[in-house]
Amino acid sequence: MTDTRANKRFRSQEWFDNPNNPGMTALYLERYQNQEFTREELQSEKPVIGIANTGSDIAPCNKIHVFLMDRIKAGIREAGGIPMEFPVHPIQETGKRPTAALDRNLAYLSLVEVLHGYPIDGVVLTTGCDKTTPAMLMGAATVDLPAIALNGGPMLDGWWKGKRAGSGTIVWESRRLLAEGKIDYDEFISRVCSSAPSLGHCNTMGTASTMNAMAEALGMTLTGSSAIPAPFRERMAMAYETGKRIVQMVLDDLKPSDILTREAFENAIIVNGAIGGSTNAPPHLQAVARHAGVDLNVKDWETVGFDVPLLVNMQPAGEYLGESFFRAGGVPAVMGELMKANRLHPTVMTASGQTMGINLAGVESLDTEVIKTYDAPMRSNAGFKVLSGNLFDSALMKTSVISDDFRQRFLSTPGEEGIFEARAVVFEGPEDYHDRINDASLDIDEKTVLFIRNVGCVGYPGSAEVVNMQPPDALIRQGINHLPTVGDGRQSGTSESPSILNASPESVVGGGLAYLQTGDTVRLDLNTSSMDALVDDAEWERRKADWTPPEIVSQTPWEEIYRKEVGQLAEGGCLELATAYQKVARQLPRD
Ligand code: FES
Ligand code: MG
Repeated sequence: MTDTRANKRFRSQEWFDNPNNPGMTALYLERYQNQEFTREELQSEKPVIGIANTGSDIAPCNKIHVFLMDRIKAGIREAGGIPMEFPVHPIQETGKRPTAALDRNLAYLSLVEVLHGYPIDGVVLTTGCDKTTPAMLMGAATVDLPAIALNGGPMLDGWWKGKRAGSGTIVWESRRLLAEGKIDYDEFISRVCSSAPSLGHCNTMGTASTMNAMAEALGMTLTGSSAIPAPFRERMAMAYETGKRIVQMVLDDLKPSDILTREAFENAIIVNGAIGGSTNAPPHLQAVARHAGVDLNVKDWETVGFDVPLLVNMQPAGEYLGESFFRAGGVPAVMGELMKANRLHPTVMTASGQTMGINLAGVESLDTEVIKTYDAPMRSNAGFKVLSGNLFDSALMKTSVISDDFRQRFLSTPGEEGIFEARAVVFEGPEDYHDRINDASLDIDEKTVLFIRNVGCVGYPGSAEVVNMQPPDALIRQGINHLPTVGDGRQSGTSESPSILNASPESVVGGGLAYLQTGDTVRLDLNTSSMDALVDDAEWERRKADWTPPEIVSQTPWEEIYRKEVGQLAEGGCLELATAYQKVARQLPRD
C-alpha cells in the first residue's frame, strides 16, 4: 500500500487548519495544543486517531485497556499519527443493573457523537466485555470512519481443586451443587471467584469471546487479535500493531463500509457455529449489520449457519478455556479449518488491508484436541435453529449444548424424531420464577417446559439474561439438571442450557408468549423449526382480546427513552430511529 499522506487532507484539518474560519480554528488549536500536541502536527501531515477506551475501574472486564493505552499510542505515534484517547460509557456485564444490555445502545449513541463531532480521522475500538464489542462496531459502522477493533482478551484460565473453572460455567455448576446441598454459601462464592484469576474478560466461549471472535471474523481486527489472553505479552504487541495499523487504514481510506459486507456477516455466522458461540451473537450482529446498512435477517442464522460443525472444544459446549484456545491457534485456526472446507468467503477485505483468504493462507489448528478439524468435529449441526409459531415470530435455539441424555429424555420420541410435546409452566419474570420455582403445586416434573416472559427489550428493560432457569431443587436432587426453557429474554453466553430464547416480538408488546397459560401443552418440532401452543384458535383469540399489557415502570430517563425507541431482539434490539442515520452521520458536522 502506498502512503498517500502528501496529497491527503484529513478530516481533522477541517477543525485544525481552516483559514476560512480563523476564529474557530484558533479555538480548536489552542485547546488541543495545551496538551502534548504542536500546531504543526495538528495542522498537517498526521491523522488524529481516536482511541475509544471502554476500560475503567467500573468496567473491570475491560480494565486491561487502561494498561494497553501506552502500547496503542506508541504504535500510532510510530506510524505517524496523533493518538487521542477518550472514554466510553462503561458497560460491565456483571455490574450494571437492571442489565448491561440496556447500555449497549447508550454507549453506541455516545460513540457516534464523539466520532461525528470531534476532529477524528480514524479510531481504535477497544472491546472486551459482552456488549462493548457490538456497541463499538455499531458506532463505527454508523459514522464509517476508518476503524479497527482491539480486544482486551480473556482472563487466564480459572482453576478449582485441580479442574478448570470457567467464567459463568462454574456459576451454573455451583448453583446446582448448592441446590443439592453439597456445598455451602462460602464455598459457592470461593468456587465462582476462582474462575477470575486475572484481568480480562470471561475465559469461556461466552458472549465476550464470541463477540470478539465475531469482530475478527468480520475482518474488523488484525489477524489473531481476539483470542490472546489479557495478561500475555502478545496482547501488548497486538495493541502496538493495531495502533500502527489504523494510521495506514486512514491513509488508505479503508472504512467499515469496505469491510462489513453481506459476505463478511455470513463468514461471522459460520464462525459462530464452529466456535459454539453465544446466543447473544445474533442480535448483536444484526445490530451491527443494520447500522452498516447490510441486509441480514435472523433466519440467516439457520439457513447460513445451522449445519456448521462445532470445532472448538471450549466451555460451555466443551472442556477447555481461553488459554488453550489461544495456544491452539485461536480464531485464525478455526477460520483456517473452515476455509480449507470451503465454508468461508475468502475474498472479503479486512482491517489488515488484505483479503481474509490471504490472511489465513496456510493457517490451521495447532492442537486438534482443542480446535478440531472440519472432518472430525466435536459434533455436527452446531448452529442455531430459528423457530417460529403462534408463540413468537422468531426465537433461537442453540442445539450444540443439548446433551445426549437430554436428547433421549425429550427430543427423540420413537417414530417422531425431533418432535417434543410438554406441559408449560409460565413465570412473569425472574422475581416470580425465584418466588415460585420450588412451589410443589406447579407440578413441575422432568417433562415440563419452563417459560419466562416480560423480560425482553421493552419489558425488562434491555432484555435480561434469565431464560436459562434452573429446575426445582427437588428435581435437581433426582439428577434432573436441565429442563427446556423458553422466553422473550436472553441467556448468558456461558450457559449450557438447551433454551429457546430471544423470542420476538416480546410479550409486553403483544407477542404470542403473552397468551400462554400454565398447563397449556406446547409442541416443538425441530424438523420444521416450529414451536406452538396447542390451544385452539378460538380460545387463543379470546385470550388475545382479554389481554392487557403489564404496567411498566422506568426508573431512569434513559430507560424511558430506550423503551420508546428500541426494536425487538430479532431486529437487533436497535434504537430504530438510529438505523436511519448512516448517510448524514457520515457527513461533516457544522462548524
Ligand atoms: Fe464481562 Fe463476561 S462479564 S466478559
Ligand atoms: Mg452475559
